[in-house]
Amino acid sequence: MTAGVGLATRLLRLLPAETAHDLAIRALVLAPRLKPDVPDGLRVRLAGLDLAHPLGLAAGFDKNAAALDGLARLGFACIEAGTVTPRPQAGNPKPRLFRLAEDAAIINRMGFNNAGLDAFAKKLEVRPRDVVVGANIGINKDETDPASAYASGADRLLPLADYLAVNVSSPNTPGLRDLQERRALTGVLDAVTAARDCHVDAGGRRRPIFLKVAPDLDDAAALAIVETAIEAAIDGLVVANTTLGRPDSLIGEARHETGGLSGRPLLTPSTRLLALMARHATGRLAFIGVGGIGSGADAYAKIRAGATALQLYTAFVYEGPGIIQRILDELAECLARDGFADVAAAVGTGI
Ligand SMILES: Cc1cc2nc3c(=O)[nH]c(=O)nc-3n(C[C@H](O)[C@H](O)[C@H](O)COP(=O)(O)O)c2cc1C
Repeated sequence: MTAGVGLATRLLRLLPAETAHDLAIRALVLAPRLKPDVPDGLRVRLAGLDLAHPLGLAAGFDKNAAALDGLARLGFACIEAGTVTPRPQAGNPKPRLFRLAEDAAIINRMGFNNAGLDAFAKKLEVRPRDVVVGANIGINKDETDPASAYASGADRLLPLADYLAVNVSSPNTPGLRDLQERRALTGVLDAVTAARDCHVDAGGRRRPIFLKVAPDLDDAAALAIVETAIEAAIDGLVVANTTLGRPDSLIGEARHETGGLSGRPLLTPSTRLLALMARHATGRLAFIGVGGIGSGADAYAKIRAGATALQLYTAFVYEGPGIIQRILDELAECLARDGFADVAAAVGTGI
């Protein structure tokens, strides 16, 4: 990694969290090309998409798809932009983003601040083509017809993105997580798949659709979501979003702030949920594992728990872009140590 990028990452940490984030998004225009040396065996195929390696950027970092070129240059194989809502939205009052550096964690209650579907679509029209780009869609805070709102997002973005992620799991939009309940979820997914079936590409292929779930589900609710996703014929699940939980281990001053907790404390619960859901899906869904990944061993644990692809957010914020190469190298070592020829051979072997 260039010294300049390392220095910039350290300097950003001195600023208030949201100021640093906004600055980073702007500075990404200047990002140098840091494409990683991808060790052998890390190429993956996710629901028909070819990824140069399994590591992607999770939703919420680039909410407006404003920095896709820069993020692609940093070496992510996949970028999930959004969450975008049909209409622009200011989000919750500031401060709404808190570092818990001692815990390698973040608490946020951003509340889907974003520039809306039209602006997002314009960015996707000029998106980079050498990286897989997903569009993560949500709904406005005052939405009264969620299924139609998700369908409008799907209809607008399916022609522009490589995949769609339906976000029903942010803790910062009141009532959103209730859409994970079977009846409501079926309504949302049926509306989105109806939109998908109108956007078949020249080769007859339909864009994959993922559903992003919360980590705070009891086992019965998690299994019901797996069944609903299979019934609705979507392609996979993103497991998981931020948690409302506050483990006793937290020591950061901001630990009592309202919002979703991400980062290291999320690793164990989100990986457990991933394994539970992947076991129940028996190969009928693809899984993107996200939550607390900060090392190759963490990435490997998610793969063994059933994930084909991975995303990170919090550890990237703390460590900067050098984390991509480090995780890929460590992951390759884990695979070689256990005799797996490639990522695909290891997927789900721990469940
Ligand atoms: C500041 C912040 C904003 C986020 N915004 C979104 C969002 O808009 N949509 C979404 O699906 N997830 C969002 N997330 C959740 C992440 O995509 C990810 O699921 C979560 O942070 C767990 O990964 P991590 O432990 O690597 O950070 C956000 C996370 C953070 C820290």
